[in-house]
Amino acid sequence: MSAVLKDAPRLVRMQDGDLSEVMAIERAIYTHPWTRGNFGDSLRAGYQCWAWRLGSELVGYFVLLVAAGEAHLLNLSVAAARQRAGHGSELLKEAMQLARSRGAQRIFLEVRPSNLAAKALYGRFGFREISVRPGYYPAHEGREDALVLTSAL
Ligand SMILES: CC(C)(COP(=O)(O)OP(=O)(O)OC[C@H]1O[C@@H](n2cnc3c(N)ncnc32)[C@H](O)[C@@H]1OP(=O)(O)O)[C@@H](O)C(=O)NCCC(=O)NCCS
Repeated sequence: MSAVLKDAPRLVRMQDGDLSEVMAIERAIYTHPWTRGNFGDSLRAGYQCWAWRLGSELVGYFVLLVAAGEAHLLNLSVAAARQRAGHGSELLKEAMQLARSRGAQRIFLEVRPSNLAAKALYGRFGFREISVRPGYYPAHEGREDALVLTSAL
């Protein structure tokens, strides 16, 4: 599925103190990043916010909402310099396992049709497209649709 990780990061709960590092990654890898407020709100709302750390280095993170037997993956990100080394796959595995352990039977997420890397990753994990949300995302010019993907857990 992906390169075997040479280094083994640890999954640790994201905290307010992580947000400067999170935002540095976020701004570097998204054309329309989440704001610091989006992460702060997610932390305060008790969403599953997890950081993927290799020693002191923040390699990636995810934000997951689990409720009523369903999970929504709201954010999954790997630092630019660490991409394509299996971290996204490991993080997705961790997020799906966490969702399952919290009683979710299905997981949902949105992805831009133009995000080929993410679509390839999710496809490898058995996600399939179930609907389109028209004009869901801001884009350079106007808006971009979101594909809604889902997988059983
Ligand atoms: C999507 C993302 C999380 C993938 O993380 P990653 O650590 O690079 O993923 P992996 O190394 O585990 O890759 C797993 C598979 O995904 C696919 N993939 C990953 N990056 C890809 C790319 N740039 N182009 C095409 N396929 C890609 C490949 O099938 C890959 O397997 P392979 O390397 O054996 O070919 C990462 O690219 C990222 O953070 N992107 C920016 C943020 C983002 O778009 N998040 C998802 C929002 S829905």
